[in-house]
Amino acid sequence: MSNKIRAAITGVQGWVPETRLTNLDLEKMVDTNDEWIQSRTGIKERRILRTPGWATSDMCVEAVKGLLEKTSTKPGEIDLVIIGTITGDMIFPDTANTVCDKIGASNAFGYDINAACSGFLYALATGSQFIETGRFSKVIVIGADMMSSIINYKDRNTCVIFGDGAGAVLLEPHRDGNGIMDFVLRSDGSGREFLHMKAGGSLHPPTAETVAREEHFVYQEGKRVFKYAVEGMTGTVNEILRRNKMTVDDVHWVVPHQANMRIINSVAEHLHIPMEKVTVNIQKYGNTTAATLPLCLWEFGPQFKKGDNIILTAFGGGFTWGRC
Ligand code: COA
Repeated sequence: MSNKIRAAITGVQGWVPETRLTNLDLEKMVDTNDEWIQSRTGIKERRILRTPGWATSDMCVEAVKGLLEKTSTKPGEIDLVIIGTITGDMIFPDTANTVCDKIGASNAFGYDINAACSGFLYALATGSQFIETGRFSKVIVIGADMMSSIINYKDRNTCVIFGDGAGAVLLEPHRDGNGIMDFVLRSDGSGREFLHMKAGGSLHPPTAETVAREEHFVYQEGKRVFKYAVEGMTGTVNEILRRNKMTVDDVHWVVPHQANMRIINSVAEHLHIPMEKVTVNIQKYGNTTAATLPLCLWEFGPQFKKGDNIILTAFGGGFTWGRC
């Protein structure tokens, strides 16, 4: 027991679009096949947002609506909304403010964090600070991405991997020892070379030429990213365990970013953690970027028990990585 305020996740809700894009569908779109995709990535299908007029904020709203209902929270009680996303509705304004408006969180402010697949982790760490200082008592942290809006469905290197989805958690202060204990966050901007979307920002503003060169899509050097991802996702787990005087035997669950089943297996192997303790849903949703962690918490949360030690770990574009 301690009197220290910790930010506890007191509710989780996910939302994924209904439309399924299966490996068989992709076989008809690019030169690929179900066997290659499953053996190289572990993905069977992903969800794609096809509702006309809907964007990332609408997926967030669906997740938050369920979260508020589940936790008996009124929109007016929310202090802050932080969204990890790289596919906000527009370059500006930020999507978190749009979400506050759409859910009627009239006493809240909001902002987005751009850290690609580590976006939820960065947002969670940020949101937890406002709770731990005693400043706020209800912070919503969301990871959401509509990757289908920036994927080139003629590029087999990327289109088989990504999907759309959103997940939201409520952070509230707890003094009973439960809650977020610690986090380690890292970044290395030199990684931008291997994973990025080239045009649309101030470096290469959108022109007819950037569109013709297909520069408004995700570019990825998969093999290079794979290597960094395994190193990044394992490296600092040991650091966080040491800092908290724990060993892997004290860990009940590992919630890894769902980028590739082979990355998840490598991480578990490097850490000597049995796969029964590792959350996996990549086969259903693919890589939903900032949404993978909260979608895992949503799906596996009912199996978690009070007092379980849970490690969240992610790696993404930037490069950005960390664990909590
Ligand atoms: N279907 C069939 N063949 C494909 C293919 C597809 N969808 N995509 C690539 N290939 C081919 C390649 O062209 C290559 O053929 P070649 O040997 O004739 O040149 C071969 O398969 C191997 O390609 P490679 O890129 O080496 O495959 P890989 O085993 O590295 O798997 C990824 C590719 C993208 C699945 C993998 O590198 C990966 O997951 N990387 C990390 C991605 C990631 O985590 N991104 C998000 C950041 S969090």
